[in-house]
Amino acid sequence: VVDLIEAAAAVGRPLHVGVIGAGIMGADHANTLRRFVRGAEVTAVADVDRARAEVAAADARAYTDANALIDDPDVDAVVIASHDSVHAEQVVAAVRAGKPVLCEKPLAPTLAESVQVLEEIGGAGEELLSLGFMRRFDPGYLALRRAIDERVVGTPVLVHNVSRGVSSGHGATSESSITGSAIHEFDVVPWLLRSPVVEVSWTAGRRSALAEGLQDPQLITLRTADGVLSTVETFLNAGYGYVIRCEVVGETGAMSLTEPVRSILETEGRRSTDYAADWRPRFADAYRLELQAWVDSLRSGAPTPLATARDGVTAAAVAEAVITSMHAGGRVVKVEQP
Ligand SMILES: NC(=O)c1ccc[n+]([C@@H]2O[C@H](COP(=O)([O-])OP(=O)(O)OC[C@H]3O[C@@H](n4cnc5c(N)ncnc54)[C@H](O)[C@@H]3O)[C@@H](O)[C@H]2O)c1
Repeated sequence: VVDLIEAAAAVGRPLHVGVIGAGIMGADHANTLRRFVRGAEVTAVADVDRARAEVAAADARAYTDANALIDDPDVDAVVIASHDSVHAEQVVAAVRAGKPVLCEKPLAPTLAESVQVLEEIGGAGEELLSLGFMRRFDPGYLALRRAIDERVVGTPVLVHNVSRGVSSGHGATSESSITGSAIHEFDVVPWLLRSPVVEVSWTAGRRSALAEGLQDPQLITLRTADGVLSTVETFLNAGYGYVIRCEVVGETGAMSLTEPVRSILETEGRRSTDYAADWRPRFADAYRLELQAWVDSLRSGAPTPLATARDGVTAAAVAEAVITSMHAGGRVVKVEQP
């Protein structure tokens, strides 16, 4: 398949992409690929819910069986945006079929399952697999990373992260808040600092009355090998908007992300801006740039610059340590990388 992709690129044929999962994220990826990504064509969409698959597929083929999409000879490469619990089996099937995969985070819900994916696909398979830690493509996070590299605010000493959403999805738990949401910070903090997370702790206080069935908010600390301490507030039911903050504090200054706003309303003695309702508008640039980088690399035969399967396992190991701390009264837990 990889040879076919290179041959197609040589004659200018777009990369034929199949998208598995046509929920919020899969439909968004299909739309972004279709409208904003050069050199790609969505040729198939699969979802167990046929109606969703058909809507997201538009003129492309719609499947209810992910394996039928993977086996479709008109699919060169696969985006997996189905439920977390089926990522592992779909990644393994697509890689075994020799098709490059961009799998949404997390690789699998647990560390053990994530490690098992690596074992099943082997070293050659790993080269086909990229992971959707899209914050690595967000222009704000890229500016922070460059500033850290250049010591613009001196040597970093603290990183403060805030991740708030409007409301948690059905069935959310304290643990899925870690493996599904905070996992982005477990990837982006060591990526920013170029230093792995070695130790974590978890704590929580008053639970929001609006949070059903989970501890929300939660507060996590991460210690990286360079000694920097990072805080992570994860608050899925913050109610008022989708907010991502990151402030890097250095010895001579501090630098933060800003909310990417396009307009300011001034009326009746107030000045105001809107918050995004969810991650799609907030990270639209990041998703587009990530998909473009993936398509470009597959068409040129270069390794993808996206997060790797190993990055997925590394973040899963941090998540597992945080959950261990949660279940052990918040004690400090060392991160054990497999
Ligand atoms: N990178 C990010 O910022 C980001 C943001 C949100 C979600 N995600 C991830 O993207 C994935 C999808 O999230 P979502 O919010 O779109 O969820 P969603 O529930 O809206 O969509 C998931 C879809 O997958 C389908 N599905 C379930 N099992 C399937 C199977 N075996 N085969 C085919 N389709 C199947 C469901 O019917 C549903 O339509 C999740 O893994 C989530 O963690 C990533």
